[in-house]
Amino acid sequence: MALVTTKEMFDKAYKGGYAIGAFNVNNMEIVQGITEAAMEENAPLILQVSAGARKYAKHIYLVKLVEAAIADTNLPIALHLDHGADFEICKACIDGGFTSVMIDGSHHSFEDNIALTKQVVEYAHAHGVTVEGELGQLAGIEDDVNVAQHSYTDPAQVEEFVSKTGVDSLAIAIGTSHGAFKFKPGQKPELRFDILEEVSRRLPGFPIVLHGASSVIPEFVEKVNKYGGNMPDAIGIPEEMLRQAAQSSVCKINIDSDLRLAMTAAIREHFALHPADFDPRQYLTPARAAIKDMVKRKLVNVLGCSGKA
Ligand code: G3H
Ligand code: 13P
Ligand code: ZN
Repeated sequence: MALVTTKEMFDKAYKGGYAIGAFNVNNMEIVQGITEAAMEENAPLILQVSAGARKYAKHIYLVKLVEAAIADTNLPIALHLDHGADFEICKACIDGGFTSVMIDGSHHSFEDNIALTKQVVEYAHAHGVTVEGELGQLAGIEDDVNVAQHSYTDPAQVEEFVSKTGVDSLAIAIGTSHGAFKFKPGQKPELRFDILEEVSRRLPGFPIVLHGASSVIPEFVEKVNKYGGNMPDAIGIPEEMLRQAAQSSVCKINIDSDLRLAMTAAIREHFALHPADFDPRQYLTPARAAIKDMVKRKLVNVLGCSGKA
């Protein structure tokens, strides 16, 4: 099995009423934890790399780690650029072996977003790579940009955006947000399913993407704090809401914060129980296992993609 694009994955997911998990990867233990879970569930995967991850681990190391994961598991895996900010980073990833890129023009005007996305699509499609665009803006922190308020996707814009750009999938803003603090303490989590439905009605058969879809499960925040952390109250997107989205036109669900939380809780617990340890293998082993458990939970509870590889 070689790296695959998202095309066939999304066709099957749309028809089958499930979604593919897009998990952020930054190092070997994260790649291994995710792919071990997917192998046990026989699930297709998207492994995504942010600009920050490329800076941290170097492009070539992440590509080689994902290639190793494919050789090890024989799973269909797409390697995707998360939140590409400009044409240059998309081109570097297309030229450097990625099979999918996101061009995030959501911070630009509608017209500029179309022009930028179209430019990336032309280059990507000429190289057999699929492209995700974005309309609307999520609140929260992403690559050092802090957006205070959601700017929900306007369904009236989606047909023009998709037809003028030629994108293969579209990320929309319906109330999810990046990071661990998605709602204010006491606030009831809500998603605008009405917007999702209207977008899907206007784009029949077209794959929709949800960013900022971690659930921030309380037991993990509690574990971080039990073992010396000091995280304030954090609220994520309830798993049942994401499950509902996965059964509709949503074919890709992005998860990063839940993996960070699981990994951090495991490492904190390890050091609390074994304060004298200084062998990285001793604390990265439970960290990798925690990533695996979290991904399994997502594949089963949220995505519904077990057995679909
Ligand atoms: O959307 C943002 C992802 O969680 C990646 O985060 O830019 O800190 O790697 P990062
Ligand atoms: P979370 O912060 O909710 O995990 O979202 C990750 C994401 O959208 C990456 O693009
Ligand atoms: Zn995102």
